[in-house]
This record gives sequence, structure tokens and C-alpha cells, in this order.
Amino acid sequence: MACATPSLGTQSSPLRISRRRVITGLGAAWSLILPGSAWAAKEPLIRRGTPQLTLGPFYPLDRPPEEDADLTRIAGQPGQAQGTIMELTGRVLSEAGLPVSGALIDLWQTNGLGRYHHPSDTTGRPYDPNFQGAAVIRADAEGRYWIRTVVPMPYERRQRHIHFDVRGKRRRLMTQMFFPGEPNERDTLYPALQSAKLQAAVTAQAMGEREGVRLYRWDIVLAGE
Ligand SMILES: [Fe+2]
Repeated sequence: MACATPSLGTQSSPLRISRRRVITGLGAAWSLILPGSAWAAKEPLIRRGTPQLTLGPFYPLDRPPEEDADLTRIAGQPGQAQGTIMELTGRVLSEAGLPVSGALIDLWQTNGLGRYHHPSDTTGRPYDPNFQGAAVIRADAEGRYWIRTVVPMPYERRQRHIHFDVRGKRRRLMTQMFFPGEPNERDTLYPALQSAKLQAAVTAQAMGEREGVRLYRWDIVLAGE
């Protein structure tokens, strides 16, 4: 099942909006959500910070045996997750560019074979017992985070992405990170972010490779933090 219904809302209080509404215009949607707000009419909240995207149907029901930043190995198991290994770094920032120290980052994704470790994933793609599937980490005092994982695979009408639920001191953001150089215009959610700026805000930067490991960078900006 794809994450087919975009959910857009304030970062502290998600609201569900139909796909038609999203396509019709994010600004119009916000004027409905926040009636009487002159500020909202001038500057839709969705255009601030990293845009919000739906939680999707595959948020982990059962937590993995460990939730550390290395999703490619599980303590006590000799194997390594199947797939292309990647590392992702970035910072959690306020709109002013200040670090959100200690931000809590909950993330989840498909394994390297395109399967979520979730009972609703009935695609039949293989379960990978060496892949952690999800992680819960904290940004450091400078807002920096790091994960080692596998490059997620596309599934159905979704392109490669990693789900993020990020909690700062005041704001919470659910979103998804996309990969550069992919046909993201074919994704069910990405095109709903109608400007290149918004699309860029949810797309990682490729930073090359190191010893066969793909390197990416992605900063997360919490509006209102
Ligand atoms: Fe997904």
C-alpha cells in the first residue's frame, strides 16, 4: 500500500487534507485551515521550514530489537542488511538557522529489498532479518544527526524515501526525505509540493561516496521552533 493521501497541517497539529485539496493549492488549503489569519493568507505555514508530509501506513507497530543510528546491523547478529549502504548526516535547525539541540528523530524506511518491517506490507518482498527498519536518535548540541542505513527501494507509486518524525523543543514535524537524481515527479506525494523550493527542502544532497558507502546530507528546518 502506498502512502497515497498527503497529510498537511501545522507542525504541532497535523490535519488531513484531501489530495485534490493539496493539488488545488496549498495556499488555499491553509486559508481554510486558519480562517481569519491574515498572516496565514500572506505566508502559508507550509512554505516555512521543511514541508510536512504524511505519516503513511507503515509506522512501526513493533519496535525493532534496537533503535540506534546504525540500521545496517543488529547487535548479536553477525550479518549485515542487504542493499546499498548509505550514510546520512544533517542538522535540525530553526528557521533562523540555529541548532535544535537534542531534537528527537524517529525514522523508518523500507529495507534494501523494498519491504517495510510492518504487517501491512503485503507486497511479498523479502523481510531482511539483519535490517533494523527504524531508529530513534537524538541530534547533538549542534543539532547534528547521523545514520547509517541502506538506500530504500521504491515501491508501488512511491519513489525512494525515508520517513521522519522530528520533535524539537516546541514543534513536531512529520515528513519524508527523498533522494536526488530519482524520478521523484512520478511519486504520489512529491509533486504535491508544487514549487522547486519545497521539493528541494525534502530532497537530500548527494555528497559522493566513501569506500563504497553513498553519502547524503539533509537539513531539517522546524518552522516555529
Ligand atoms: Fe513510505
